[in-house]
Amino acid sequence: MVKGDFGPHFEWGVSSAAFQTEGAWDAEGKGQSIWDVFTTQKGKIKDAHHARTACNFYQGYQEDIALIRTLNIPNFRFSIAWPRIFPAGVGRPNPKGLDFYSRVVDRCLEQGITPWITLYHWDLPQSLQEKGGWANRDILSWMEDYTAYVIRNLGDRVKHWMVLNEPTVFTGAGYFFGVHAPGLTGLRNFFPAAHHAAMAMGRIGRLMRSEVIDARVGTTFSCSSIHPASNRYRDEKAAVRADALINRLFIEPILGLGYPVSDLKALAGIEKYMQAGDEKALPFDFDFIGIQNYTREVVANSIFVPYLRARLVPPARRNVSNITAMGWEVYPAAIYEMIKKFNSYPNMPKLIVTENGAAFADTVTGGQVKDHDRTQYLKDHLAQVLQAKRDGFNVQGYFVWTLTDNFEWAEGYHARFGLVHVDFDTQQRIVKDSGKWYGRFLSD
Ligand code: NOJ
Repeated sequence: MVKGDFGPHFEWGVSSAAFQTEGAWDAEGKGQSIWDVFTTQKGKIKDAHHARTACNFYQGYQEDIALIRTLNIPNFRFSIAWPRIFPAGVGRPNPKGLDFYSRVVDRCLEQGITPWITLYHWDLPQSLQEKGGWANRDILSWMEDYTAYVIRNLGDRVKHWMVLNEPTVFTGAGYFFGVHAPGLTGLRNFFPAAHHAAMAMGRIGRLMRSEVIDARVGTTFSCSSIHPASNRYRDEKAAVRADALINRLFIEPILGLGYPVSDLKALAGIEKYMQAGDEKALPFDFDFIGIQNYTREVVANSIFVPYLRARLVPPARRNVSNITAMGWEVYPAAIYEMIKKFNSYPNMPKLIVTENGAAFADTVTGGQVKDHDRTQYLKDHLAQVLQAKRDGFNVQGYFVWTLTDNFEWAEGYHARFGLVHVDFDTQQRIVKDSGKWYGRFLSD
């Protein structure tokens, strides 16, 4: 497999996110985000890790962008921290925050790297959370103001935009399970948050398309292929319900298909938050859809899980030995299955894999990181992407998660996903063997 097999227009890249890498949590007028607050709460993050310094990308962005150049990676996806731009979420902007991203963009362009920006990768301004955050419908106009300011200032140089990163995860983990910021639980938080996140995609997509000349507007979704634990009817039905929640909840309203209520009855609760005209406002014809896949899930019927009546069978219970440091099964065919599934919707725009990668417990020996398992993971997943492309599915890009080891949310710094190793005491970088492999692959 060589790069050329994917064709001359295939987009190759690497992805990252503001909160996970920047540090400088209170620098130059930045406001607090829900993650700044959540990471100070007891018991929320493994070993009480926090992201006050993280990878210090805020100070060291030039070095990291130089690394991207060295690895021959032509596209860099990163996100903007909303509370750097509007410290209080709305109102008076902080020009220094904007200036930072402007410098990052310029640096990329100088190095021949195309910037791809995600507007929202989970770090909501805390002051907006105090007004309800995603559960408050006003989030639509707050995000509109934030976006308008950002695109007015960066839209001349940045043409590739994504509205949201993984709405299923930030609404599910943040507003239902409470394991991510803002740590809220229950359907009365989850349903409004989910509906407003779904509405934000079209609303912000339309704004960007009308304001940015030649914009390519996308948004990104987490997805995992879902396999029933057995061929018993009740497990198969449980898998359908889990699929509706995990893979279909946000893409279907965007495509004009509505929420997948017929396969997961409990979702009817979302409709309570719909207002006149919402059904028409949900769909938007994105230029591309980002899909982010890491694994598959095996699902069994369960009477103990309310509403969903399904549970995920952990890999350890299935005698799966090939698992990552996140506890996720290594299952490369999942990415093929997800490309196929998304591509089978009518009017689906082109797909770009905006994240794929793996965390393993790396060791540094003699200044090297021989992360064979990560290289193998990437090769095996890319082979599946290539097969999907050859089978006629419209997939046109692949971004590795991620450039540098970084703050992996509730896992803290334990899960290392980078192509580049970071010593978090010294901020020293070492390109791992997987990074060297990706760099060689992209140089062909
Ligand atoms: C999804 C998220 O977008 C990203 O922030 C996270 O680090 C990776 N997947 C790995 O879990």
